[in-house]
Amino acid sequence: MRSWGLVVRTIIIWSLLLVVGTLVFIYSGRYDIGADVHHTRLVAQLIGALRDHSIDTRITGIAVPDLNDPERIAAGAEHYDAMCTGCHLAPGMTNTELREGLYPRPPNLTRFSPEPRTAFWVIKHGIKMSGMPAWGLTLRFPHEVTRGPASDQERNRARRAGG
Ligand code: HEC
Repeated sequence: MRSWGLVVRTIIIWSLLLVVGTLVFIYSGRYDIGADVHHTRLVAQLIGALRDHSIDTRITGIAVPDLNDPERIAAGAEHYDAMCTGCHLAPGMTNTELREGLYPRPPNLTRFSPEPRTAFWVIKHGIKMSGMPAWGLTLRFPHEVTRGPASDQERNRARRAGG
């Protein structure tokens, strides 16, 4: 019995020390919040896991519409050109001054197509402390931009279809 009491006391003391230590760290100002000082690998991995699991548990009910619909492509290309290229680039762009200074660096969506449900959720809700806005607050149909930048071929086809 005595040894159980000792274990419980030890756990309580270490927990209190951890809480006090964390508060001292936060209020001391030692943490550099500047975007030009990157996270340690461990912190980056923890934040990545937090982001991925948070999104994965929220996308299960999302139904993906026809993303090859020419009207949707035309509307999406217009929105994408106006609102996304500064951070996510478009075919032919290599970088922008805005993108260069962002941390985390926005993915280059000309090179990588995110999973549609993930893309829809992220575009609608944004990601805290990353610079990715919650477009669902201003765009009525974020699904239009889910596919990322339209290729020149797709743009021409959509224009021909009158989009
Ligand atoms: C001010 C910069 C900024 C703008 C403007 C912006 N984004 Fe982002 N976006 C980000 C950042 C930064 C991330 C990465 C966030 C992270 O992983 O923590 C991101 C992530 C994403 C992702 C998730 C990709 C993945 O990892 O699966 C998608 C999809 C996306 N953005 C689409 C868009 C679209 C579409 C627009 C325009 C309507 C847009 N973004 C506008 C900064 C921006």
